[in-house]
Amino acid sequence: MLQMFGRRFLLAIVFGGACIAQAQANRYVSNDLCKTCHSAIWNAFYKNPHFKSIASGKEPPENTGCQGCHGPAGNHVDNGGGKDTIRAFSMLPPEQALDTCLRCHGQTLSRANIRTSQHTLNGMACTSCHSIHRSQSVHALLRKPQTALCEECHTDVRAQFAMPFKHRVEEGVIACTDCHNPHGSFAPTWAMASRPRHVDQAMANEEPCLKCHADKRGPFIFEHLGVRVDGCETCHAPHGSTNSRLLLRPVVFTLCLECHNGAGNFGRQGKGVPAQTSNHNMADPRYQNCTACHVRIHGSNADSNFLR
Ligand code: HEC
Ligand code: HEC
Ligand code: HEC
Ligand code: HEC
Ligand code: HEC
Ligand code: HEC
Ligand code: HEC
Ligand code: HEC
Ligand code: HEC
Ligand code: HEC
Repeated sequence: MLQMFGRRFLLAIVFGGACIAQAQANRYVSNDLCKTCHSAIWNAFYKNPHFKSIASGKEPPENTGCQGCHGPAGNHVDNGGGKDTIRAFSMLPPEQALDTCLRCHGQTLSRANIRTSQHTLNGMACTSCHSIHRSQSVHALLRKPQTALCEECHTDVRAQFAMPFKHRVEEGVIACTDCHNPHGSFAPTWAMASRPRHVDQAMANEEPCLKCHADKRGPFIFEHLGVRVDGCETCHAPHGSTNSRLLLRPVVFTLCLECHNGAGNFGRQGKGVPAQTSNHNMADPRYQNCTACHVRIHGSNADSNFLR
């Protein structure tokens, strides 16, 4: 090693640094060299999970420490620094930044859809959310704590979590990533016609809602197709709502009548979604509160009309 370094040094004297850079492939050097000029970054780096490769010393040079991401730094060191002698993320287009990270982080299910995700398609890269050297979060090297990070761009969503009825994300009870995978998700197996919207899937390709609201999981002997096929968002606003129970409509029956109006050509024997029977007198306020009688609206094991 020492000998090789010596020979290169000799060559450097003969041909000059610039010539070497062109004539020879760049080379890996000891990461310790970075300390001299980038001491602030170096001194904080021992806390970084990417320090593990330096600590263990067991990885090949292309996977070790600084140069695992910034690439071989031989030319950089020979030239006393510079942005154009090394892989500088400040100069990289997003797709190249993405490739650099995915070389090591591409093999997991959680990032299987990152290239087709709306984030990537809109020109974002890992560094839009993660900061390797200046992370403000103890978790996953995030640029900022998660809620602040996501809401920095999704200001409309922040407004939804300030509504009277909401999931308590601002309060830290649940997080965006309890329902979303920011790295992209698979096409939903419920509501298959719609965009995935980064909505994560839980257990057996179910909606993430069922991780916590397990009583709605079923399977029920009598499924409510409106729930099972269309998904929770058909009736609930997942973030927040001005209506209690996060419902999309202020009055329950208007929600039901969107489907139960006798129109359409799906449902039983092609007769459409059944309208409520004629004994349902809509002028009678008693009948307007559908879920007062149809209490098992998410599905029932006892009654096909979800009455118990
Ligand atoms: C002799 C001093 C010196 C050494 C040794 C050195 N660098 Fe640099 N480095 C610099 C200078 C000077 C710059 C240019 C800074 C600028 O233009 O803002 C630079 C820039 C960089 C950049 C680009 C910064 C940007 O703005 O995106 C990276 C990445 C980098 N160095 C990584 C390394 C790594 C990794 C090592 C160790 C293998 C290393 N450097 C060793 C002096 C050094
Ligand atoms: C996991 C990948 C990764 C590793 C490992 C890594 N860097 Fe970086 N580095 C980045 C990224 C990405 C940036 C762009 C700024 C950011 O997002 O933090 C960057 C930015 C820089 C910069 C530009 C100036 C700045 O403050 O942003 C320098 C200099 C630098 N790195 C040096 C180093 C040195 C020295 C090491 C080893 C101690 C190192 N890097 C290890 C990914 C890495
Ligand atoms: C839109 C923001 C965003 C982007 C873009 C993003 N991430 Fe993440 N990433 C997160 C958040 C938030 C978490 C924390 C997830 C959690 O708490 O469960 C995370 C977690 C991680 C983790 C640790 C947990 C795990 O899934 O293994 C790794 C590694 C990671 N991201 C790598 C990447 C890489 C590599 C890229 C680019 C190819 C990337 N991320 C792009 C937001 C993002
Ligand atoms: C040379 C391979 C390699 C490259 C390139 C690389 N990483 Fe990593 N990354 C690792 C390893 C190894 C770990 C530590 C995993 C562990 O703790 O077991 C890690 C950890 C992480 C974590 C923390 C995971 C957690 O659970 O806290 C994040 C976030 C992350 N990397 C993001 C990135 C980003 C963003 C880039 C590109 C700028 C990148 N990595 C480039 C190998 C790499
Ligand atoms: C309780 C689960 C849940 C939580 C927590 C959650 N979301 Fe969502 N979000 C969803 C679902 C489900 C959809 C899809 C709605 C649809 O398809 O109608 C969605 C849709 C979105 C959309 C697309 C909206 C649109 O109209 O196109 C964005 C952006 C979004 N969420 C961002 C966030 C952010 C940022 C956070 C955290 C601050 C967050 N979400 C927290 C479940 C959640
Ligand atoms: C740097 C800005 C930025 C950050 C940070 C960011 N996003 Fe996004 N997000 C976007 C853009 C741009 C889009 C695509 C356009 C749109 O739908 O608004 C998007 C789209 C989405 C969508 C909708 C996808 C679809 O198919 O419609 C969801 C859900 C989402 N982001 C969740 C998150 C979550 C969760 C976080 C935090 C972990 C986050 N975003 C952080 C910029 C950002
Ligand atoms: C990480 C766990 C978690 C996930 C995932 C989750 N929820 Fe919730 N949900 C809660 C908690 C906890 C409450 C209690 C209200 C609070 O936090 O103030 C709640 C409340 C609700 C309520 C209002 C209940 C009431 O009594 O007013 C509805 C409706 C609801 N969630 C629907 C959903 C839907 C739809 C999804 C998926 C898009 C979902 N939840 C995902 C934890 C979760
Ligand atoms: C067909 C419309 C519809 C669909 C689809 C739907 N819900 Fe509901 N949900 C309601 C109605 C209506 C209420 C209010 C019931 C009441 O007022 O007693 C409710 C109440 C709730 C509540 C609070 C009261 C309780 O029973 O715990 C939660 C939590 C909930 N739903 C979760 C979900 C989840 C999770 C999904 C997806 C699996 C889902 N809902 C799908 C209509 C629906
Ligand atoms: C997204 C559309 C949709 C919404 C909204 C909806 N339903 Fe349904 N509902 C259906 C479908 C589809 C069926 C199954 C019809 C069939 O078996 O052919 C069904 C079945 C039923 C049945 C059982 C009828 C039977 O004979 O099997 C009852 C009772 C019912 N719904 C009540 C309600 C109530 C009360 C609401 C409002 C809280 C509601 N539904 C909201 C789509 C919906
Ligand atoms: C006072 C109790 C009560 C209220 C309130 C009520 N229902 Fe019913 N509903 C029933 C009973 C009981 C049945 C069983 C069939 C029957 O006797 O009509 C039924 C049956 C149904 C059926 C199945 C019809 C079929 O063809 O099998 C639908 C759909 C339905 N109701 C929808 C609604 C909707 C929508 C609302 C709110 C606008 C509502 N119900 C309010 C008691 C009620």
